[in-house]
Amino acid sequence: MLVIDDLGKRYGGVQAVDGISLVLEPGERFGVIGPNGAGKTTLFKMIAGDVPPTAGAVHLFGKDVTTMSTARRARMGVGRTFQISNLFRDMTVFDNVRVAARGGTSKARVFWMPQRAKDDVSERSIEALESVGLADRRNLTVANLSHGEQRQLEIAMALVGEPSILLLDEPAAGLSAVERATLKSLIENLPRTLPILLIEHDMTLALGLTDRVMCMENGRHVVTGTPAEVRDNETVREIYLGRRDKK
Ligand SMILES: Nc1ncnc2c1ncn2[C@@H]1O[C@H](COP(=O)(O)OP(=O)(O)OP(=O)(O)O)[C@@H](O)[C@H]1O
Ligand SMILES: [Mg+2]
Repeated sequence: MLVIDDLGKRYGGVQAVDGISLVLEPGERFGVIGPNGAGKTTLFKMIAGDVPPTAGAVHLFGKDVTTMSTARRARMGVGRTFQISNLFRDMTVFDNVRVAARGGTSKARVFWMPQRAKDDVSERSIEALESVGLADRRNLTVANLSHGEQRQLEIAMALVGEPSILLLDEPAAGLSAVERATLKSLIENLPRTLPILLIEHDMTLALGLTDRVMCMENGRHVVTGTPAEVRDNETVREIYLGRRDKK
């Protein structure tokens, strides 16, 4: 689904991402953790197509997309959310999803939803809202949603394009414990066939929702393994848990 080969990004004197490689298998849920400034968002942006890498390559669904635009990658089936919220706050929940739905991606690549005639934007939007538990909030303006509900809406907006891979950048950032639990079960309940790349600062979420996890620090790879392996890794404990405990 996704192959990253020796990817690097340099901003002037800052090597934000340095020699990262990973392979995401069909249906796999992959977490990326690491402290502030580790390069997680930069990696994410190179996968989504927001910034070009200065080294290495990105392949999506067997195609080299390294120099391909964000829009083209979206049409290929990349669904994503942003670390910083990207909603139309004065519009209703429903209209936000409908705007996202109109962005349109190729139906041909949809394999996790049954193929049936449901071209209607409104119908698809309701379905996306149902899948994140927001269908009953659809006529509220976004500004009236809780922070947690806004993050749920962002996921609905990614899902309405019927993506073949879902990229989530810190979906739990700024959420309360209760909101985090809601978000966790929402992500857990997404179709198991949909591969997910989850960037998350919150170790509990990142380790609880994924099949494999990679830890980064200062742009570099630290370790990749099962959540248990990463949790028990000595370096991860030092660089990540150590810092977290001091907060
Ligand atoms: N547009 C940019 N120009 C210059 N430096 C940048 C830019 N974007 C990121 N950086 C730098 O690259 C490094 C990695 O940043 P990045 O945002 O990828 O980290 P992150 O792991 O997502 O951090 P956080 O957990 O805080 O979101 C940091 O040192 C950051 O200051
Ligand atoms: Mg980030």
